Amino acid sequence: MKTGSSVKQANLKSERNAPLAMSGEEFRVLGHQMVDQIAVFLDGIRERPVTVASSPIALRQLLGSDELPVNGAKADELFTETSRLLFENSLLNGHPRFWGYITSSAAPIGALADLLASAVNPNVGAAVLSPVATEIEAQTVRWLADLIGYPRDCGGLLVSGGNMANFVAFLAATKAKASWDIKNDGTAAAERRLVAYVSTETHIWIDKAAELFGLGKSSIRQVPVDADQKMLIPALISAIETDISNGLQPFMVVAAAGTVGTGAVDPLPAIKKVCERYGLWLHVDGAYGAPAAMLPDASEDLRGLNLADSVALDPHKWLYSPIEAGCTLVRDKRYLIDAFSHRPAYYNFNGDGENDPINFHEYGLQNSRGFRALKVWLAIKHVGREGYEKMIGDDIRLATELFQFVEAEPMLETGSHNLSITTFRFVPKDLDSGTAEGSEYLNKLNTEILNRIQKGGEVFVSNALIDGRYFLRACIVNFRTTTSDLEALVEIVVRIGKEVDAELRSATIAV
Ligand SMILES: Cc1ncc(COP(=O)(O)O)c(C=O)c1O
Repeated sequence: MKTGSSVKQANLKSERNAPLAMSGEEFRVLGHQMVDQIAVFLDGIRERPVTVASSPIALRQLLGSDELPVNGAKADELFTETSRLLFENSLLNGHPRFWGYITSSAAPIGALADLLASAVNPNVGAAVLSPVATEIEAQTVRWLADLIGYPRDCGGLLVSGGNMANFVAFLAATKAKASWDIKNDGTAAAERRLVAYVSTETHIWIDKAAELFGLGKSSIRQVPVDADQKMLIPALISAIETDISNGLQPFMVVAAAGTVGTGAVDPLPAIKKVCERYGLWLHVDGAYGAPAAMLPDASEDLRGLNLADSVALDPHKWLYSPIEAGCTLVRDKRYLIDAFSHRPAYYNFNGDGENDPINFHEYGLQNSRGFRALKVWLAIKHVGREGYEKMIGDDIRLATELFQFVEAEPMLETGSHNLSITTFRFVPKDLDSGTAEGSEYLNKLNTEILNRIQKGGEVFVSNALIDGRYFLRACIVNFRTTTSDLEALVEIVVRIGKEVDAELRSATIAV
């Protein structure tokens, strides 16, 4: 094994002796050692805390010297130390009791796929640089479309996650609907300002898109939602009509197949009709919820995502892919090419016109692209549609059970239940939550409960704000969770709730 100190100047004519090179045997020994450690880690994940509450300073100290390494070190020692560092100081979203945000337990096959992808290292920006990888990505896109009931002849590509998947669709829609040459003249040349419609529950990506791609946040209309957090159609129509009468150009509606907060699904077929009436692009943000459209009992609203001009979905959410893996699907692939294709003279990527290759750099924002598709493709092959239906269906059944456990617990109150997200809060028996003070106190109390839960390491949930009320939120996209884990969650929340309530009340009395 080479270390920096053993680097000698070699005769470059016939050998390199490069410090990073490794013989097959060295790689094999190291790889086996690392895979053994990961296998033990995965088998014992339930016994570990979900997270550690170490401070950034303590974590920095664990990294040891902050000086840039000058000489190298032995790879086997580095791997042993580093795997321990990671296993003992990470938040384990693969833990059966992790239900925070929308981060799934990652399929072990995805970890192996990432290793394989990195070892071959294709650049999936161009087919000539990634012959079979490009075809695997194209097949993955067709399979993802098939899984959610979207036309399989759509265009699409793998991206880093939900933000990027939505950005790609947003840019394709902007280009498709601008009545002037927006690629050349920019948004400043608009004859009529472009306006997009989203619900108030839309993920914050929309603000970034509006800021970054030149439209500005004031060109986004936040349409109100009903009591179930779904976009209100009359309010959408009225906003569009107002903008038209003010000389603006409505161009796009962004609807949700599973909002980030409560998992609400907008009435997609009804929104599609509005889009048809006014000639608007329908984009569905299904980053979280789109995979649930594959279930036999999926609602008509959710299945309506097959009507969209574009869909964002995230294999790294509900398809249990390791981070990063998002995907954009566009019904007519021409719009992706229109928005993103450039063919500079220094690329020799084009075919002869007969059998043109797919060059994914022409479909999105990235140029050099990693082989993200492999982990998604292998997982689909590994468990098939049936496997996904089972895991996603079980996650939804578990979220339903959690809702029922909460209903049966006198110290907890339910908030919502959609797809695999259940929200609830701790409400002391003697508290009148109908008054302004009671409601403010409940928000404070539940915020503190969440802080304790997130630091405690027993379970991990996040929060949702529904009509100004603060709720704890469990999003089950976790194939390791069982009913007993959710029973434990209820007990833990009640225990911590009582403790925090007692502390807050005694602090108020002391004041
Ligand atoms: C509905 C929705 N859209 C977009 C995103 C952003 O996804 P990412 O964090 O993968 O960029 C999320 C993240 O939770 C989401 O729930």
